[in-house]
Amino acid sequence: MKIGVLVGGGDAPGLNAALKAVVIKANEFDFEVVGIKNGWAGLLELDTQPLNTDIVEEIHSRGGVLLYTSRTNPFNVEGGPTRIIENMAKLQIKALIAIGGEDTLGVAQRLYEMGVPVVGVPKTIDNDLPETDYSIGFDTAVAIATDAIDRLRTTAESHHRIVIVEVMGRHTGWIALYAGLAGGANLALIPEVPLNLSQIYEMIKNRYASGKAYSIIAVAEGAKLLQDEQQLIVESQEKDEFGHPRLGGISRVLEKLIQDNTGLEARSVILGHLQRGGPPTAFDRILAMRLANKAVELVHDAQFGQMSAFQACGVATVPLKKVLTERKSVPKELYEMALTFFK
Ligand code: F6P
Repeated sequence: MKIGVLVGGGDAPGLNAALKAVVIKANEFDFEVVGIKNGWAGLLELDTQPLNTDIVEEIHSRGGVLLYTSRTNPFNVEGGPTRIIENMAKLQIKALIAIGGEDTLGVAQRLYEMGVPVVGVPKTIDNDLPETDYSIGFDTAVAIATDAIDRLRTTAESHHRIVIVEVMGRHTGWIALYAGLAGGANLALIPEVPLNLSQIYEMIKNRYASGKAYSIIAVAEGAKLLQDEQQLIVESQEKDEFGHPRLGGISRVLEKLIQDNTGLEARSVILGHLQRGGPPTAFDRILAMRLANKAVELVHDAQFGQMSAFQACGVATVPLKKVLTERKSVPKELYEMALTFFK
């Protein structure tokens, strides 16, 4: 049986590890894998490449995505969904694995409702997909942003400056919060919790008064700020195919406001696409392998309209006694999955 795999939306570190896992697991079931290039655009335009174990063997540590990606929305294209169904038949693809965030998986769900056998794999550095604790790429983005904060701290301190580090995160502040925490920022501004600008100035002034003449603020690009109860929005008029405005620039606005309102020197740094580039962390590689491995199993079991997910990473309380009774061994299922790679 032939199965197709595609990646849609922004790239994310770990995607190549996911593709490798799809191919290796598919081999086990004797599935042939067709790589669809440039996301949904590849299915509209019959732009594909065969994938085999030789091609994917060394890609797990590379950033980017072997198949390329795009933000093409087939539901915005005249006759797009029908063309996708016809092209899948032409390519003799019997099932599809769609790796992506809310937009790509939203398209997958709509196609599934039209009868397309598709399963999803969660990918987005923003980590804003529900039902999965982690999405592919998030851990690497946090590691990069944390490293940036560590570096910015020393220069901020040397110059007695306020440094505002802007990270990605359109609707949610996962990267800002995690990197802010890990990097010891003094404040994280996230879309979920709009802060009044006066609270930010106060924090900076309080730190200054206590002898800390510098501050680090992590801000999500989509953070919402309030100025006299009015919402301050920083976004461009440019929209992508899914209607999302291009963000980026809130830190620059903050830089000026902070300087004007605290009298202290401020600098803004936008990390931008640096957060999506380069090799994935070990965590992202393994997460990607596990999620992709599961997606192929879902295809094998004809569990279409489903997404593989990583769950139960929340903080809980457990009796000490329970911790001391046994050792946490590597689960058999995880070891067996790993064996498929150790060749
Ligand atoms: O994929 C999610 C994301 O990284 C967002 O955090 C960000 O707003 C957006 O993509 C940037 O998109 P583009 O790569 O198209 O500039």
